[in-house]
Amino acid sequence: MIIVSGSASKSLSKTLAHEMGVKLANVESRRFPDDECYVRIHDNLDGEEVIVVQTSYPDEKIIELFLLQDAVREFKVEKLVTVIPYYGYARQDKKFNEGEPISAKTLARLISLSSDSLFTVDIHEEKIMDWFDIPSKNISGMPQLGVYLKNLEPDIIIAPDKGAQDLAKIVAEVVDCDWDYLEKIRIDGENVEMKAKNLSVSGKKVAIVDDIIATGGTIVRATEHLRSQGAKEVYAACTHGLFAKNALPRLQGVCHEVISTDTIENEASVVSVAKEVAKAL
Ligand code: R5P
Repeated sequence: MIIVSGSASKSLSKTLAHEMGVKLANVESRRFPDDECYVRIHDNLDGEEVIVVQTSYPDEKIIELFLLQDAVREFKVEKLVTVIPYYGYARQDKKFNEGEPISAKTLARLISLSSDSLFTVDIHEEKIMDWFDIPSKNISGMPQLGVYLKNLEPDIIIAPDKGAQDLAKIVAEVVDCDWDYLEKIRIDGENVEMKAKNLSVSGKKVAIVDDIIATGGTIVRATEHLRSQGAKEVYAACTHGLFAKNALPRLQGVCHEVISTDTIENEASVVSVAKEVAKAL
């Protein structure tokens, strides 16, 4: 077994290789002068079971993923398993308006073309898993976030909306504390509001957990809401830290700590999903 890492998932691939006790292939990935992608695998993969690990974000990493899958297929491999730590385009999981594509489905179809199976982490919508033409599994990053948060000793775990309540439940079970959820109303892509809801957070240490932090609007509003009800400390944790539009420093200004996993690698990714991925593989 050998891991082929894409450039978006180098750190996670290294941790995963260590966790599984398998080799990391020597992969070259660079850009041509016109910015097209070039990849080359400097190991002979004949007869190997190969795990390609690459987050499908931002767009250029998707092309790199396809090229890596095909580079692997050029060898006579035993099996090709694709791990997509953060599955980009998952939030366009339906036609919101006539004339739109279902982007999450488009990507699922294309990824399935060159792979024997697929693993991803905390996919935004579980139904997307049915759109792969190959066996697929969605892994939860929440248990590992729970292990990290337990050390911070929060009194309560809060989901910023009802849709994320299952995530809060998993984390609260690991931390061994209470959980609840806020009621979010999305105004547009960047703006959300929180419906008034009384929570027992006064004087408490609170950790908000969500699958994705994108612009950070959700966490900012949730933090304001919790503070207005007397929360003493507010932490924000997510699986996928997209941190669009400079969201990370903005959030670090309002929360005690911002935590994400290594499905998207950045300075907040202090929790690794490698253990859970290794277990699933
Ligand atoms: C939405 O359903 C997701 O779970 C996240 O709450 C959302 O993507 C966060 O977006 P933002 O950080 O832009 O508010």
